[in-house]
Amino acid sequence: MDRLCFSRTGMPLGPALQLSILTVTFLYFVGVGGQISSTSPSNLTLAASNNSVQSAFSIEDVLAQYSGQSTRPSEKTGHPDDVYCGVKDIHLDAVDEAKMEFTITATVGLTWADPRLQSLLPADSDTIYAIRGADIDRIWLPDLYFPLLKNGDFHKITSTNRVVRVSKHLLHGVIYHMRLTLTQSCHMDLSNFPFDTQKCDTLISLFSYVDSELKLRWRYSQLIETGSSIQLNLPQFSQPTVKATDFAVTGIYQAQESVQFNFTNTVLNFSICLHRFGGFFILTEMSTSFILCVLSWLNYWLDPDQAPARISLGITTVLAAITHANSATKRGLPALSYVTALDIWFNLNVNITIIGLAEYGLVHVLTVRARKLEERLERTLTGDKQTLAGQPPQHDETSFVLCRGRRTEPKDVDERQRLSQAAVRYRQWAKRIDHCMRVAVPLLLVVFVTVFCTKYTIRNEDECAQ
Ligand SMILES: *[C@@H]1O[C@H](CO)[C@@H](O)[C@H](O)[C@H]1NC(C)=O
Ligand SMILES: *[C@@H]1O[C@H](CO)[C@@H](O)[C@H](O)[C@H]1NC(C)=O
Ligand SMILES: *[C@@H]1O[C@H](CO)[C@@H](O)[C@H](O)[C@H]1NC(C)=O
Repeated sequence: MDRLCFSRTGMPLGPALQLSILTVTFLYFVGVGGQISSTSPSNLTLAASNNSVQSAFSIEDVLAQYSGQSTRPSEKTGHPDDVYCGVKDIHLDAVDEAKMEFTITATVGLTWADPRLQSLLPADSDTIYAIRGADIDRIWLPDLYFPLLKNGDFHKITSTNRVVRVSKHLLHGVIYHMRLTLTQSCHMDLSNFPFDTQKCDTLISLFSYVDSELKLRWRYSQLIETGSSIQLNLPQFSQPTVKATDFAVTGIYQAQESVQFNFTNTVLNFSICLHRFGGFFILTEMSTSFILCVLSWLNYWLDPDQAPARISLGITTVLAAITHANSATKRGLPALSYVTALDIWFNLNVNITIIGLAEYGLVHVLTVRARKLEERLERTLTGDKQTLAGQPPQHDETSFVLCRGRRTEPKDVDERQRLSQAAVRYRQWAKRIDHCMRVAVPLLLVVFVTVFCTKYTIRNEDECAQ
């Protein structure tokens, strides 16, 4: 069968198909080749792509002649130098509330002009040369630092991810790219947790230079281009918004004879704003405590006389709610001295279960009183029956009292009526309280959930715009 099918359908179609595929492939490559040849000519080429230049000239020759590794390019003329900073390929890797820190991975690019380096390049070269590895430390580099940094490193797999490119024809001459992982402190206000908005700043400044020597600026075009495409690796948060600003920090050096030397430092501020989705907490923590709350509500439907059932249900829900609240609020949060939205939710739910138990305390007192009255009533009735039937009473004293009471009949009837009325009143009160709570607790919950949602979950979108 197989062979037959192959020979019948496969053979005649095969060559035609192959021919058409070949034709299409050929046409495609002709087309692409045409496109490449029409776009490829360009003035600047990378050093690796032009073998004739590389063999005639090596960046090693430049570095051997270069001096001034420790002085900035315009040190001698006294003019300030400009360093432009850009950040791209940003990945937000972690946000740690307990330690109040966040971790990003980013490629930081710095560009500046260094005529000392550029003048050593071949005069007529259009090439962009690369300086790699340990050679990078042989030229002058801006001493960038991150004021909020706790921990950070270059990426070192498979070799340190940094490169300097230099050319006579680049906009500023020298470009320095490095891939960094930065863990920085971020002060977080968790009072709206888990519906909070966090703003975490990456501050970038120069450590040893002040503005009159070296001025740090944003390369805005690059930042705007990449700012919207920040990669978020945390499903807890919505897509972050990014804002780049800068501000100046002024300082004073106090000289003798009350002379002051003022200086300013430009600090670049790259702020990432994150909205947290509370979904995970709603699904796990908040729903559990809500269910416990609803369970405790069942208490009001049980018969007040069934003390073991009501007390065990009440105590179980209270203990479960307290244990759950305590374990849940500590999860991933630091020891805070203020309440979070999650705390408010848990506290209300625990309180509602406690109200359920306390309410039964009241209802129990009322039913116990009613029961005692009923017992007394029953005793007077049985006493009557016993004396009516002429049976000898078991205890002389009580029977004597009852017999004596029986003799004063109108008083006796009054007493019984009073007892039964009081018992009924107590029972009615207990029932009324239960009935009230059956309505009041769901109402309280509805009001609370509405207030809670409007206060915490409806998001102020302007929070990130500031
Ligand atoms: C390589 O460099 C040589 C010498 O500068 C130049 O003549 C040639 O056009 C370059 N080749 C390319 C592909 O740019
Ligand atoms: C430095 O700044 C202080 C106040 O910040 C000001 O009073 C003082 O005049 C400034 N000195 C100079 C030399 O600008
Ligand atoms: C950084 O910029 C953000 C957003 O504009 C701002 O909220 C924050 O206060 C700035 N940080 C500092 C240290 O000025």
